[in-house]
Amino acid sequence: MEHFSIIQSLCRIGLGANEPAFRRQVERLQESLLASGAEKEAVVLARLLATSDKGSELRPSKLSLSGGMFRGERLNEKTPPPVDKETGAPLAEIRFPMDADTPLPILGFELQKALESLVMEWSNLDALGAMEVHPATSCLVYGLPGTGKTQIAIAIANRLNLPLVIARLDGLISSFLGTTARNIANLFHFANRYQCILLLDEFDAVAKIRDDPHEVGEIKRVVNTLLQSLDARARIGLTLAITNHENLLDKAIWRRFEVRIFIPLPETQSREKIISQYFPPLRLSDVQLGLVSWLTEGFSGADIETMSRNVKRYMALNPQEEFLAALRSYVLTNAGQGAREHQKLILSDQHELARALYKEDARVFNQANLASLFGKTQPTIARWLKAD
Ligand SMILES: Nc1ncnc2c1ncn2[C@@H]1O[C@H](COP(=O)(O)OP(=O)(O)OP(=O)(O)O)[C@@H](O)[C@H]1O
Ligand SMILES: [Mg+2]
Repeated sequence: MEHFSIIQSLCRIGLGANEPAFRRQVERLQESLLASGAEKEAVVLARLLATSDKGSELRPSKLSLSGGMFRGERLNEKTPPPVDKETGAPLAEIRFPMDADTPLPILGFELQKALESLVMEWSNLDALGAMEVHPATSCLVYGLPGTGKTQIAIAIANRLNLPLVIARLDGLISSFLGTTARNIANLFHFANRYQCILLLDEFDAVAKIRDDPHEVGEIKRVVNTLLQSLDARARIGLTLAITNHENLLDKAIWRRFEVRIFIPLPETQSREKIISQYFPPLRLSDVQLGLVSWLTEGFSGADIETMSRNVKRYMALNPQEEFLAALRSYVLTNAGQGAREHQKLILSDQHELARALYKEDARVFNQANLASLFGKTQPTIARWLKAD
């Protein structure tokens, strides 16, 4: 949407003043954006509202960049991205920083802190320089699909207020002998010339050419170019690489990364936070939150986000139905995700489900809560539980 980044900045500045009337207007704007189908912009405002809720002590500090690592020409909207010389296909997409308050995805406490401290390193180059140390300049993020890896890279770039040069390695790979290595070299040359973060997404794609026995010479050339390019860039700028298949990476490439971060599937506490982020405006009671968290064991953050949209659609069209019915419908149409045992139980008869939940956590799934969840009386629930 045109001019949205200005609207966003206005909202951020206004919300910082803690003025309830202003906040109300931002909420109205967010609601009408949502109603008019501008979902992306509505989510950005919802996040701004949520961050301003948490109070200033939790807001990411304004970062100022300094030092040699981010020197170079400035990228602007008109800078053409590097291209494959044979096909003219772009080798990277440039993403300009938008919102310095972009949150990191919800991660466990320790991991969140570790990432925050990396961002602090990259934004305090002068202080580090005084100690004669450099920040880590290459970081490999790996983990299962949908766990928020790309979102981490975007949040880091936004916080450092730097453009991201995003290369999808599968796009760089060419069937012409020698071209892949040249594409990689061109990409790094471009990134080194400008103030930016180089993001190598789907990084394992380079390893895939290895499957072809005719390509032994080619893969050697590609890996060597990549190693040399990574080494040279370490002195110039920040490189982030992302993969879902870290085991496919060449050992020498793996070792090049000073920081390697594994992003796990979210644990119970993180799942509850992710659910609380994506389910509104649907309001969940504590027991419903507990149930969704139990049902989504083994889900990624992206899976939970998709599920929330599914459940909201169902509840919007069937407002008279129980919340449980929405979850059942979701499970029936999204087989094979997460803990199979939990999916089976949600579809089984209510007595069995109630007993399983009570066994799982008698505090969250106590008789009163189960009664509200199943729309029954407490004595009925007590009878169900006794039948065990
Ligand atoms: N931990 C999380 N907290 C909040 N939202 C999350 C989390 N993980 C994923 N998401 C949501 O899922 C979306 C997709 O995540 P993202 O693309 O960053 O995952 P990924 O790990 O890069 O996946 P892939 O390996 O498939 O590329 C995010 O934009 C975000 O909306
Ligand atoms: Mg990704």
